[in-house]
Amino acid sequence: MLTKDQEYLRDSQYRDASKLEARSRLHRKYGRQDWFEWLANHGHWPERGACLDAGCGAGAFWNAMASNLPASLSLTLLDLSPGMVAAAVQAALGANRWDNVEGKTADASAIPFADGSFDCVLAIHMLYHLPDPEAGVAELRRVLKPGGVALIALNDRHNMRELGDLRRQAIPDAGPPRPPPYDLTDAEPVLRRTFNQVELIRYPDELVCTEPQDVIDYLMSMPPADAASEAQRLELATAVRAAFARQGGVFRVGKAVGLFRCVA
Ligand SMILES: C[S@@+](CC[C@H](N)C(=O)[O-])C[C@H]1O[C@@H](n2cnc3c(N)ncnc32)[C@H](O)[C@@H]1O
Repeated sequence: MLTKDQEYLRDSQYRDASKLEARSRLHRKYGRQDWFEWLANHGHWPERGACLDAGCGAGAFWNAMASNLPASLSLTLLDLSPGMVAAAVQAALGANRWDNVEGKTADASAIPFADGSFDCVLAIHMLYHLPDPEAGVAELRRVLKPGGVALIALNDRHNMRELGDLRRQAIPDAGPPRPPPYDLTDAEPVLRRTFNQVELIRYPDELVCTEPQDVIDYLMSMPPADAASEAQRLELATAVRAAFARQGGVFRVGKAVGLFRCVA
């Protein structure tokens, strides 16, 4: 039984790849541009290894890293959203590299595979979507083989704070305050008591944006702007353009992202 928030994620936010793509574009265009390679360098990719990508999104990692990883890997691309699973399978097959690609529409809080099924597990920017992230962590650990590696990426609380500040100027938060998203600090003690070895590796980056429309598209892809009135959306676009003007035509966004490399 999905919560209302999960229904929103499945049926609206991640119904297809378009909203995630608006956000990924900002990182690709203005960031370090080595995210996937950096992730791959921290992974564990044995020949004929079984990999699970939990919350795989549009599967961009597998398309981008095809020539960096063994072709003999078998990939299981799991997501709550059937639209994302379809996009991920298409992206992975489109790399013309992997023969064994399986899509699975499922909740990562109850992974439908036996204990010890995988050599490597990815959970990249997804644990904060689970109603009970600790249950998700237990599942990621359960399906890993002994010695297998989970790569778990999350943000710090102040990640991209400039964008939230800008959005709140134009569209104030409505209703009771929501708890902040599950972040690196929340996850660290949970991971340390769940896995045998845990290393936290930071990914320092700053986006120096030059096109207001890219920032507008990013903000419009997320709550509350994705469901805001036309007047509020206009106000948000005006606030973004004013912020660029104040900084002489650019807008700087600080990133605070980290990766836990966890060995089972
Ligand atoms: C921010 S996106 C990240 C996608 C991908 N890992 C990446 O880094 O590009 C979060 C993904 O988690 C998925 N998701 C959210 N809740 C989930 C759940 N309970 N089980 C599995 N996937 C979930 C969403 O549908 C979405 O595709």
